[in-house]
Amino acid sequence: MSEQPLKLGVLVSGRGSDLQSIIDAIESGDLNARITVVISNNPSAYGLERARKYNIPAVVHSSKDYSKNAFRERFLEILKSYDVELVVLAGYLKKIPDTVIDNYPRRIINIHPALLPKFGGKGFYGMRVHKAVLQSGEKESGVTVHFVDNKYDHGEIIYQQKVPIKEDDTPETLSERVLAVEHQVLPRVIGMIAEGKIS
Ligand code: GRF
Repeated sequence: MSEQPLKLGVLVSGRGSDLQSIIDAIESGDLNARITVVISNNPSAYGLERARKYNIPAVVHSSKDYSKNAFRERFLEILKSYDVELVVLAGYLKKIPDTVIDNYPRRIINIHPALLPKFGGKGFYGMRVHKAVLQSGEKESGVTVHFVDNKYDHGEIIYQQKVPIKEDDTPETLSERVLAVEHQVLPRVIGMIAEGKIS
């Protein structure tokens, strides 16, 4: 029964509410995992603050500070030094270097605020996703968790949950409804991986 907690490295670029949903699920005992490190490309990401509040190591790692090779090598070093078993992109806006992807096969997941493969790919992030969904006249949107490969929002889909669109939705109201679902889905999917239900 007492499986070792799955060791997570969580990558954030901004506010980090998805990160918070993982922290909350761990704190409440619903998720048998441990965040060993939070990494951000953005030194002022609020996600780093959230990590520090819980004494989780918070590391800034930006391609701006390195040559291309040194950046990806250091990336791997950080993940290895914190013994990360699963990398979770929780609002991380940068591409993951191929070397990192090769070293963590089916061990890197991303959460996307729409029903992929629609409304994904380069440039589809943040409010842009919800604007595009509403402009297209779709009747529903949703949340997708997928494995990460070397194309944006492209790897194998692990889990999707639909979210209804209301007639008077704005990108903001839709994003709030989708985000609330993300906060349930992300810890749940990590839990499924921790329990070996997804390999
Ligand atoms: C979420 O909508 C997530 O799907 C997307 O970026 C957003 C991150 O929000 N990848 P937050 O920084 O976790 O609050």
